[in-house]
Amino acid sequence: MENQSKTVRVWDPLVRIFHWSLVASFAVAYLSAEEWESVHEISGYIAFGLILFRILWGFIGSQHARFSDFIYSPQAVIEYLRSLLTTHPKHYLGHNPAGGWMVVLLLLGVLATGFTGIKLLAVEEGRGPLAQMDVPSLVSPAYADRDEDEEHEGKAQGEKEAGEEFWEEAHEVATNLTLLLVFLHVLGVVVSSRLHGENLVRAMVTGNKNLPEKDSV
Ligand code: HEM
Ligand code: HEM
Repeated sequence: MENQSKTVRVWDPLVRIFHWSLVASFAVAYLSAEEWESVHEISGYIAFGLILFRILWGFIGSQHARFSDFIYSPQAVIEYLRSLLTTHPKHYLGHNPAGGWMVVLLLLGVLATGFTGIKLLAVEEGRGPLAQMDVPSLVSPAYADRDEDEEHEGKAQGEKEAGEEFWEEAHEVATNLTLLLVFLHVLGVVVSSRLHGENLVRAMVTGNKNLPEKDSV
């Protein structure tokens, strides 16, 4: 019987701590938005900081943490997706080619959400790391005319400056796009776990995968 399996280390501890801290901080930031300002800002900063760390780790981290390990050509993505329709889908130890691009999009999504939030805080309240660049009263005149533009959803914005509206909108759009990516990401994790007969969520907790003796990429 050659049904033996071996345990392989895939995700280093920092990748795992990064991942689950990101899930928690993103969720808290999302749920506290417009409910509890200080919690929203702190959890948002944490999510943003985690992404900065992960980008660095993508260059200097362990083997499967590196961008060079999971950024594949479009052909490889298509080949991988095609192989999912066969009885022997191509298996990867680290991120598969489709998952790798999803990781990049998720990183960019949270990065954009955090950045637009920090910008919003600066233009709206003159606070935070970008506050010096955006003294609200200096920025607003340049945009002032656009406030009259009725294209803007018609809701009475009261005192709001166009610059504030722009960053508020940008922050909301970035949040919602990222949330959409998260749903697709979790769906992808569930589907590929089933197709490959492995538990990817457990691997992201323990760091290990159990593989049949025969190999994967
Ligand atoms: C409870 C919900 C979630 C589950 C079960 C989950 C599960 C996973 C799993 C299993 C992986 C590894 C995929 C692979 O083996 O190729 C992964 C990677 C990843 N996930 Fe999630 N995820 C969740 C939520 C999120 C959220 C909310 C975000 C971002 C806001 C996120 C961002 C990422 C990123 C960036 C990676 C790449 C990890 C790395 O290489 O550092 N995930 N996730
Ligand atoms: C990265 C995770 C983050 C998520 C998921 C997130 C999500 C949200 C959401 C959904 C809103 C409500 C938008 C609306 O209805 O107009 C919001 C508002 C806001 N966020 Fe974030 N945000 C994040 C990070 C940040 C960061 C890092 C900051 C700044 C430190 C920030 C500052 C703000 C501010 C100032 C508002 C406006 C509150 C208001 O005037 O009502 N956010 N955020």
